[in-house]
Amino acid sequence: MGESLQGMKRTHMCAELDVSNVGETVTVMGWVQRMRNLGGLIFISLRDRTGILQVVVDSSSNADIFSRAEKIRSEFVIAVSGKVSKRAPEAINPKMKTGEIEVIAEELRILSKSETPPIYIEEDLDANEAVRLKYRYLDLRRPDMQKNLMLRHRVAQITRDYFDRHGFLEIETPMLTKSTPEGARDYLVPSRVHPGKFYALPQSPQIFKQLLMVSGFDRYMQIVKCFRDEDLRADRQPEFTQIDIEMSFVDVDDVLAINEGFIKRLFSEALGVDIKTPFPRLTYREAMERFGSDKPDTRFGLELVDVSDLVARCGFRVFSDAVASGGSVRAINAKGCAGFSRKEIDSLTEVVKTYRAKGMAWIAVGENELKSSITKFFSDEEIKALLERVKAEPGDLVCFVADRNEVVLESLGQLRLEIARRLDLQKDKGWNFLWVTEFPLLEYSEEENRWVAMHHPFTSPMDEDIELLDTDPGRVRAKAYDMVLNGVEVGGGSIRIHDQELQQKMFRLLGFSEEEAWARFGFLLEAFRYGTPPHGGIAYGLDRLVMLMAGRNSIRDVIAFPKVQNASDLMTGAPDFVDDRQLEELHIKTEISPEKQVHETE
Ligand code: AMO
Ligand code: AMP
Repeated sequence: MGESLQGMKRTHMCAELDVSNVGETVTVMGWVQRMRNLGGLIFISLRDRTGILQVVVDSSSNADIFSRAEKIRSEFVIAVSGKVSKRAPEAINPKMKTGEIEVIAEELRILSKSETPPIYIEEDLDANEAVRLKYRYLDLRRPDMQKNLMLRHRVAQITRDYFDRHGFLEIETPMLTKSTPEGARDYLVPSRVHPGKFYALPQSPQIFKQLLMVSGFDRYMQIVKCFRDEDLRADRQPEFTQIDIEMSFVDVDDVLAINEGFIKRLFSEALGVDIKTPFPRLTYREAMERFGSDKPDTRFGLELVDVSDLVARCGFRVFSDAVASGGSVRAINAKGCAGFSRKEIDSLTEVVKTYRAKGMAWIAVGENELKSSITKFFSDEEIKALLERVKAEPGDLVCFVADRNEVVLESLGQLRLEIARRLDLQKDKGWNFLWVTEFPLLEYSEEENRWVAMHHPFTSPMDEDIELLDTDPGRVRAKAYDMVLNGVEVGGGSIRIHDQELQQKMFRLLGFSEEEAWARFGFLLEAFRYGTPPHGGIAYGLDRLVMLMAGRNSIRDVIAFPKVQNASDLMTGAPDFVDDRQLEELHIKTEISPEKQVHETE
């Protein structure tokens, strides 16, 4: 059994101590990182969330404590009282915050023992992630994970403070609610009291924050969990956290300005980094045309170049047919990549094919000659014009895709990122913030055979495009914006429709009948009858923001207890089967027979 704490009170966290404490008697507590027994002397590295402190136990000064210390193993929890003393010059460790001192133990208690842990508790551990997640509480003892969560805490504190100072109220919204409009699949919660009925967990507090504007709260913010049943990736979790914002009596510029101020303050206080404001703004169209992405990483060039006009009448049917049928031919000049092997070029072709392109044509520019998959189809003049258009010089590799516009842009956008990764162009380029604005209001869903809202159905069209709603809906631009950091969408929002008629028209365009619109969002439409201020807002993915700030590649690294790819929790084993009685109470029958109920954790 562990010893009791009675009579011992912690005076300091481990890494709070330094030379200024020399001579003081202190009491510290924590986990044993390492124990070295040198015969007459035992050195213990004691760890808590602030860092590591060296404790020395000397057999000549206290035999009783020494025999106790001999039993200590890694991850035991101990309490130590003793005098802080300066280390001998040769024992100083400049890499440690507490490297100039040590505590000479006068009292030592083993509060709790530990079995050998299944993972090592150390920085930059490369243990299998599944094992780390199964033993997440141990994984979270590691200094880098502790740093990530401490940063996340700082970010949340600064966020609350910034928005508080700017007059925003933090107001909670319900978790058990009705389906919300973000377009992913809902997580449903069965009602016991209402047989056959379900709550939906919110995909975002979108409707509630708009209702709070109708109520006159004027400025709202909330750090809030959102739930979306969608395919997971490194930057997507089924439950994630938003910094959710809404403001009344504003237009696009007001929302962007308050949020630029937020990012400036956040980065200055949390990271000591000065972010220049205002951020550059790119329209959606420009972002797509130049970078083939609505979240462009502009830390490097490799921009897309349209060459459709140059090849419209060329002899290469793949190119001329694409242009003739309304598509385009575009190119990327991969600077300095002419030396890529055939194998490397083939693997680039695979990249564009993943994004539905049928092929990739290329020209490698040498000092005196060209190597290419297509020069045989072109005259010397045509080649010269193409190379001039993309500003090709000897040493460059020019890559072309011809197809429908959408496919050309997306596949070249992805190719651009792949080339940048191979050339390591994204490293150490600082913090590249930008806004993408003027998103299309609608996009056509081939699958559903109807228009769907690109952001959500409450997003306002741009004033100058309202007339197009009746004639050419696909061309209507929205008062919608995304904040992009280093090629990652960290936030998105819009100015909302505050006019009931316009909102109804929008629902009609989206193919909702009057009844359907009322059934789903009736309470919002009703609310809009009673005096609605113009309003708009934004929501950040807090996990994504902290992930980037912490320099990580996965949001799992900044979430204490995340889920894996298939949306399960490896530690608790959730989701799991429940008792038949629980199901009965909820009026639910499942099609999975009891024999088939294999528990994940077994
Ligand atoms: P949106 O759907 O764009 O907007 O979400 C806002 C931000 O949330 C983050 N995000 C996610 N992060 C982790 N895992 C996910 N599954 C996930 N999905 C989204 C992204 C995204 O930019 N109600 C609107 C906001 C508004 O209009 O004010 C909304 O939710 O960083
Ligand atoms: P082919 O005549 O089919 O051998 O094609 C000649 C070159 O054009 C090859 O390098 C193909 O990869 C490339 N190519 C084929 N389809 C396309 C396309 N849609 N866009 C760009 N290049 C293509």
